[in-house]
Amino acid sequence: MQSDAPRNPPRHVAIVMDGNGRWATARGLPRPAGHQAGVETVRRIVEAAPGLGVETLTLYAFSSDNWRRPTAEVAALMLLLRRFVRAETGRLAEAGARLTMLGRRDRLPGGLAEAIAAAEQATAHGTRLHLRVALDYSARDAILDAARRAAALPALTRDVFARLLSGGDHAAEPAPDVDLLIRTGGEQRLSDFLLWECAYAELLFVPRLWPDFSAADLSDAVAWYAARERRFGGVGAGAPQPAPPPATPVPSAA
Ligand code: IPE
Ligand code: IPE
Ligand code: MG
Repeated sequence: MQSDAPRNPPRHVAIVMDGNGRWATARGLPRPAGHQAGVETVRRIVEAAPGLGVETLTLYAFSSDNWRRPTAEVAALMLLLRRFVRAETGRLAEAGARLTMLGRRDRLPGGLAEAIAAAEQATAHGTRLHLRVALDYSARDAILDAARRAAALPALTRDVFARLLSGGDHAAEPAPDVDLLIRTGGEQRLSDFLLWECAYAELLFVPRLWPDFSAADLSDAVAWYAARERRFGGVGAGAPQPAPPPATPVPSAA
């Protein structure tokens, strides 16, 4: 298998997929058209990630605060998500990807919750990529929920807490800490995403809007990460840190 993976790839990449609305508005289109275009980006990025050495990819698809959006936009998003999960389940299973969902399931439309449960089951044995989709997700709520469950345990460690945060029980396999967090769309904030898991993540804020984000952009981000010196509170070699990747031309600018 051909691989572009650098020597020191991020094992866990998390992405705040932001900028769909602005992408659509700039084209005189309704905001859901941006979400539709964003779905195509998800396909590209999921396909490209394993070849770059990424083992876990967590995508922020809908925050618990996104319920504040107009009903029509939320409905369009839920429909797109359901279609995406249904359409991609077979392909993900064939590609050896395992899909799991992070976040609250009880407020999702029934059809979407069912599609996700079916996809989780159908892809349960995938080992090439762990694709985690954060839906109706709030990091602060996830921490509260894990804390409540932790209260029943005799002993609590960081590792046990991380397992609870990953959605499993205290004995489940936790997702590793986030190595690289990418936010598209230019905003430099976390918007309640993976607050615990990003404790030492390298943060990359890219101006490109999510529908324009390409596999080459992901590859640039991974190469940028690989050249960084992570110190985890220590001293390190003090080598100069690489500059963020320059924006490559948008491949399909309309
Ligand atoms: C991100 O794009 C997708 C979701 C939050 C679901 P936005 O819809 O936030 O796009 P902008 O930030 O308004 O451009
Ligand atoms: C964060 O984007 C949530 C997702 C990308 C799903 P938002 O567009 O909701 O974040 P804010 O409101 O700009 O902080
Ligand atoms: Mg946004």
